[in-house]
Amino acid sequence: MSRTEIVHLIDRADLIADCLAQDNRPPDPLPGHLLISLFFENSTRTRASFQIAGQHLGFNVVDMSLATSSTGKGETLLDTAMTLNAMRPDVLVVRHAMSGVPHLLSHKVNCAVINAGDGNHEHPTQALTDALTIRRRKGTLEGLTVAICGDIMHSRVARSNMRLLTIMGSTVRVVAPATLMPAGIEAFGVQPFESMAEGLDGADVVMMLRLQLERMQGSLVPSTREYFRFFGLDSDKLRAAKDDAVIMHPGPINRGTELDSVLADDIGRSLILEQVAHGVAVRIAVLEALVQNAAAGGPG
Ligand code: NCD
Repeated sequence: MSRTEIVHLIDRADLIADCLAQDNRPPDPLPGHLLISLFFENSTRTRASFQIAGQHLGFNVVDMSLATSSTGKGETLLDTAMTLNAMRPDVLVVRHAMSGVPHLLSHKVNCAVINAGDGNHEHPTQALTDALTIRRRKGTLEGLTVAICGDIMHSRVARSNMRLLTIMGSTVRVVAPATLMPAGIEAFGVQPFESMAEGLDGADVVMMLRLQLERMQGSLVPSTREYFRFFGLDSDKLRAAKDDAVIMHPGPINRGTELDSVLADDIGRSLILEQVAHGVAVRIAVLEALVQNAAAGGPG
């Protein structure tokens, strides 16, 4: 996505967020479209917010999960996608543990495909949500220092945020133990740190990530207790950041592993629940853009 496209989506989502906050309604419903969500991995926030976004717009929403789809009966992923495509959805929302699956499916179906998280690759609507949340609190993304901390190696949220925030003119730092820092991370235009004190120094935003134990082969951290001691965010470590620094986390949070419980619940500093609320606005903006683009004859 270009800077112009990002700004357009965030501006629209900003207005939608105001409408939702006022009377829980989007400004321009678009009834009659069909959204099918296909989640091959667990999800609370992303899955619910796509459904709620679709329902707010007046879409028909069908939610398929791995447990209820026929892939459990041996059907291939492509056959499942082609089957759903034959029911003529306007939008297919896909989450999969393998990187590249939504992209692959987008070449096979003739509706729009949204990547709702693929392996450790990308999670674009989460990055848009985070950018909107930062911009609403700080007024801008340009010139801010954002420290993304934790399991950078396995995090699609980190990858999408690194790309989006650098495009938008933020200085992005990544903080992780050496075992969770991907080689060559500087290619993303970010600055790597192996210490929270240095990585958080003067930061405007501290974005914490979950330890993705389910994606780790073998043990990359000695113990969650020791991990918290060095890389978990508590008020001591937060002191290195600016006085008005905010705390973010895409969820789900593991309290006491990457984030101290008191900080997670500090409504003055923690934007975690605002991220969830803004996620609905962003997904409405993305759905609108896709169906309007399809109506105009553009690519899905
Ligand atoms: C994340 C995900 O699934 O990528 N959560 C989310 O979508 N809000 C992060 C995670 O699982 O840790």
